[in-house]
Parts: sequence; C-alpha cells; structure tokens
Amino acid sequence: MRIAISTGGGDAPGLNAVIRAVVLSAVHRGWECIGIRRGFGSLLGEAELMPLGPNEVRGITHLGGTILGTSNRGNPLKWRVQRPDGSWEERDRSQELLDSFRANRLDALVAIGGDGTLGIVLELWKKGLPVVGVPKTIDNDVGGTVTTFGFDTAVSTATDAIDKLHSTAESHERVMVVEVMGRYAGFIALSSGIAGSADVILIPEIPFDIDKVCDKIRRREAEGRHFSMVVVAEGAAPKGGTVSLIDPAHERLGGIAERVAHAIEQMTGKESRSLVLGHLQRGGGPTTFDRMLALRFGAAAVRLVGERQFGMMVALQPPNIVPVAIAEALAAPRRVRLDSDSIATARDLGISFGD
Ligand code: F6P
Repeated sequence: MRIAISTGGGDAPGLNAVIRAVVLSAVHRGWECIGIRRGFGSLLGEAELMPLGPNEVRGITHLGGTILGTSNRGNPLKWRVQRPDGSWEERDRSQELLDSFRANRLDALVAIGGDGTLGIVLELWKKGLPVVGVPKTIDNDVGGTVTTFGFDTAVSTATDAIDKLHSTAESHERVMVVEVMGRYAGFIALSSGIAGSADVILIPEIPFDIDKVCDKIRRREAEGRHFSMVVVAEGAAPKGGTVSLIDPAHERLGGIAERVAHAIEQMTGKESRSLVLGHLQRGGGPTTFDRMLALRFGAAAVRLVGERQFGMMVALQPPNIVPVAIAEALAAPRRVRLDSDSIATARDLGISFGD
C-alpha cells in the first residue's frame, strides 16, 4: 500500500500530529506514505511529492502548522487561471489529479481538511479517488463529529488573550471588543467568552441588537463596574444586518469588532477599543487535548484505509472515533445550538448575547 497524505485549507494546530500518526500507523503495517505538498499541489505539478517515513515525522507532534504546507486557494475542481488579458477563469483539473494519483502508484489518500477540503475530496471520491477524510478546523463547524482538532488550542489562545485584556480594560475603565475567528459558527467566541468572563458575547447564531449590548454596559457602569469585555465572533451580524467582510471576493470575514466598538463609544460615551486576534488563533503548538484527538484521528484514518472504507471521515463521538460518511457530515454543518447547555450557562452567568 502507498498512502498519500494531504493537508488543505487554513492550517490548524494538530495537523502535524495527524501526519505523524498516519505515517507511523502505516509504517507499522508495512505500508509506504507519500506527502502531497501545498494542498493538492504535488498532484498537479505545483510541488514535489514528499516521501514520509519515521524520520520525517520525528518530533513533530507538538509543532503548529503543517510540514506539508497548505493552501485554501487550490481547488482542483475550480482551478483559477489568469487569461492573457488579465481576467480569470476556473478550470476543472480533477482528471489530471486522478491521472497523477494513479501514475504515482498511490492506493489511498488521507485528506486532512475542513468543510472546503472535505467537499472537494467528496467530489473526487465520486470520480474514483479512494479517500478517507480527517476533519480539521479551529472553527469546529464540521458536522458528524463532536469536535475537530485545532478548536481547543484556538479557544485556549483566545481565552488567554481575553484574560490579559481584562487588566488593561479595568485600569483604563474602557470597553474592550475582541474579535475571534470561527466563520459562520460561534463556538470559539462562546467558549472563550464564557471561560474568559466576558460581559457580552456576540455570535452568528444570535443576531444582536446594539441597544441591548449598550444596555448591558450601562448596567455594569451603574453597578460600579467601569469596564466591560465584549467578545465578538467574526461572523456575528446585527439584527437585520449583514456580516462584515474585509475581502468580499474571497468571502473573508472581519471588521465587526471595530464597528461594534465604534457604536458602543458613540452610544454610551464609554471609551472603547477593538482588537482582532486573527491568525494568532491558528498558530502555535496544539494543546494536549488536540494532540490526542489528532493522533487518534490519524491512526483511525489508517484503520479505515485498511478496511477500504473510502468516502468516509473519522469523527469523534465520545468515547469512540467512528467512521462517518463525508457526505453526511457536510450535509449538516455544526452551529451553536441555541438550546445548548453552554448558551444556558452563559445566560445564567449574566452574559448578554445582545438579544
Ligand atoms: O476556517 C479557519 C479560518 O481561520 C476562519 O476562522 C477564518 O475566517 C479563515 O480561516 C481565515 O482564512 P485566511 O487564512 O484565508 O485568512
């Protein structure tokens, strides 16, 4: 068996741990592993293949990033090519990818990625690519699994930042508005906001009313709490409004914290500052939880390859790692459930969602 491994989409802490687990589990069975660099790049002539053995994956469990590199702009089904006149067209390079896969005598692909990458490999599987998926994202928005690796680390980073911002907010009697990632899911904001003792948490699943946000800040003021901490998910939007985009062409979310801080200052007269945590949340080494999950996912993916369970991804359904059809996981993306215990906990603690 020759197993290919690829990492696609935005990176997340724990990718290297998955790669290590796949390689060691494969080698343990007498199989070979080949790394595909830069997403699907090595199968499209954009980068060299990378043979992976125990030496290549030594000492990488705790490292952030991915030794294979990644890309969130390299969809082989919609490859962007610039025409001589400067305009862009999209080409389907999937047949070229399948041909290259076979020419390199590869028997299976373990594709580590979020909803974007999993959607691509689902289409490639339908065209004949033997693939097993491993769900990855700091956003925690992939269906079928209770959590993805990378999320726990991102939440720890965000919580740590909120803790640090508390002291400066209090000294200056300011409102601090912290923007965290998550795309259209509010999991990072919800967890870091609760753990970091935020006063207001704004998430995509609950459109907010800025008047309600300001009411909360005024109430705190009246109670002698002269500072407030607002955690806003990048995908949060006001009631009846739209999400804030910094790059509409690529649907890059961002800028909501600045808007919220400005509105709070205008409406309450409280000095306000905003901070975007951005890619800090994707960096650094994985937490112990994420390392364990990533290693378990990697080993389980190789077991699925052995059983020829293609078109499936590994998923955490505690206490087990189970196979779930990629199509099924993508059909129901995860979002914060409004009836969840975490939402109830936040409300019981007096945290406002601006609703
Ligand atoms: O999906 C992971 C993620 O970090 C999102 O939370 C964020 O919206 C996006 O990727 C940022 O992507 P990029 O790396 O292209 O800026």
